[in-house]
Amino acid sequence: MCGIVGYVGPATDGTALEVVMEGLARLEYRGYDSAGVALVTADGIATRKRAGKLENLRAALEAEPLAPARTAIGHTRWATHGGPTDDNAHPHTGGEGDRLALIHNGIIENFHALKKELLADGVRFTSETDTEVVAKLVGREYDRLGDLTEAMRRVVGRLEGAFTLLAVHAESPGVVVGARRNSPLVVGLGDGESFLGSDVAAFIGHTRHAVELGQDQIVTITPQGHTVVGFDGTPAEGTAYEVTWDAAAAEKGGYPTFMEKEIHEQPHAVADTLLGRTDESGALILDDLRIPEERLRRVERVTIVACGTAAYAGMVAKYAIERWTRIPVEVALAHEFRYCDPIVDESTLVVSISQSGETMDTLMAVRHAAELGAMTLSICNTHGSTIPRASDAVLYTHAGPEVAVASTKAFLAQITACYLLGLYLAQLRGETYADDAKAVLRELHAMPERIGRLLGRMDRVREMAEFMADTRSVLFLGRHMGFPVAMEGALKLKELAYIHAEGFAAGELKHGPIALIEPGQPVFVVVPGPDTPHDLHRKVVSNIQEIRARGARTLVIAHDDDEDVEPFASEVVRIPPCPPMLAPLLAVVPLQVFALHLASAKGLDVDQPRNLAKSVTVE
Ligand code: F6R
Repeated sequence: MCGIVGYVGPATDGTALEVVMEGLARLEYRGYDSAGVALVTADGIATRKRAGKLENLRAALEAEPLAPARTAIGHTRWATHGGPTDDNAHPHTGGEGDRLALIHNGIIENFHALKKELLADGVRFTSETDTEVVAKLVGREYDRLGDLTEAMRRVVGRLEGAFTLLAVHAESPGVVVGARRNSPLVVGLGDGESFLGSDVAAFIGHTRHAVELGQDQIVTITPQGHTVVGFDGTPAEGTAYEVTWDAAAAEKGGYPTFMEKEIHEQPHAVADTLLGRTDESGALILDDLRIPEERLRRVERVTIVACGTAAYAGMVAKYAIERWTRIPVEVALAHEFRYCDPIVDESTLVVSISQSGETMDTLMAVRHAAELGAMTLSICNTHGSTIPRASDAVLYTHAGPEVAVASTKAFLAQITACYLLGLYLAQLRGETYADDAKAVLRELHAMPERIGRLLGRMDRVREMAEFMADTRSVLFLGRHMGFPVAMEGALKLKELAYIHAEGFAAGELKHGPIALIEPGQPVFVVVPGPDTPHDLHRKVVSNIQEIRARGARTLVIAHDDDEDVEPFASEVVRIPPCPPMLAPLLAVVPLQVFALHLASAKGLDVDQPRNLAKSVTVE
């Protein structure tokens, strides 16, 4: 996830850089690994880009100012392909004399194949990004056609994946061309000036007249307005609307909090983490992994180290990896790992999971594992952060920056990456023990749509949370993969709403915790789908009956087609049916939404709960 801005002003205007920098400042929440701009000046394309936050770019521009321009594009990056360096920062250039500049938000799945073709034609690259490949392709088409819109159109048809692209050319002053597929792009229409942005925050300080582009559309903006065509070249139109939010709300995409926005970004977080990781035959290609396949084939045990929400993602992963590979998986809280004389050696794969990549407890566990000779693999959301750098290999999640302190979309992306790892290990060993790997992958690709559908029906959960604003204790129960989901539901409620919340394995109830049940005690129960192996569904339904009989208020999360829960549930929250191993990606969503709204109903700061920090860099 990156932030992009484009601007064209009147011929007499020379302030494009200021407008674009202001837009980038408003979009910095979308990524802060690097920032860059390209201007169409009287002398051609002028670019400036720097790794790190926008302030680094600002300092570079102050030290060496660029000539005035009325046309500019700007980018703030959340790294996906290629680390957060000056070279990998956007814009990238292409065409004869590098007279085309291009920026990109998204992931080009087939960039390897396209790059190979360009290399064979003698094209030279200066970065490791997928974006530069597109810049070279559009530049080459422009040199042939002399028309920026048409050059973009010829190229987008060859791209697979998700992208928003903006391009400018030295020979087309007063024009910015944008294209979008599976990634956002909005047009802003001013008086004698036009804007493009990843979202309206990019231009909210200048105009409220916006046009949202449809899927697979190309837009050309000039100071006088905009024109839209489909990828097939037929004239098209976006959807015009008036922005009613103020600048602060615009950064949150119109949501009241970053957390709510990030919950709604979960379908994208899962889809983007899956993007580009299978080849044409459906086989997994995890090319970020730097451990030789031969070594990975010899893995005899997996130890997952992580903290908090990331550790619950690890607990979900244990069930999946063991099922698909029959490799024993242990999950250790990273801060405990070192002190229990861990049994790891060269045949152990130690997988760390961390959103920030900076959690000190997790980093120390990784270093300790490396000292003991283990292979270390980092599942991480932040490119170039410390934990991936300290690890032998990395598998990035592509959730985009998570601003709210409580983790939501990173959790779903972490689980997704763990599924990919499990299936990949199974693929390397030549077999998947329990499920057909290709069928699992197909179902995984269907999960973003299901998560989106689920998010569309959260009104009742919100009402439940508001109604329960004075509740002092909530319990959460689940079995098998529902257990870590229950733990995560409890953690969300504790950290956001500051009330007592505990997650239990449902089978553990009768061994003690059932004593907590008294009339009116709210208990969430995560129910597995009716077709879950080992008769799990029936057993969880029995657990609901046990607590209901003792007066508990049973808040049941069950699949759409599950009628068995009805007689014993005070409330049923329905989730779309899915294969049992993938259900955590859905079951946790209502629990996140519940915690969010209960905390909001109490008037608490949802994005920055008390006593917490986004990355915990002390032990
Ligand atoms: C809870 C939460 C934390 C983090 C934990 C690990 O909502 O966000 O429990 O999951 O501090 O952080 P990372 O993933 O950055 O290592």
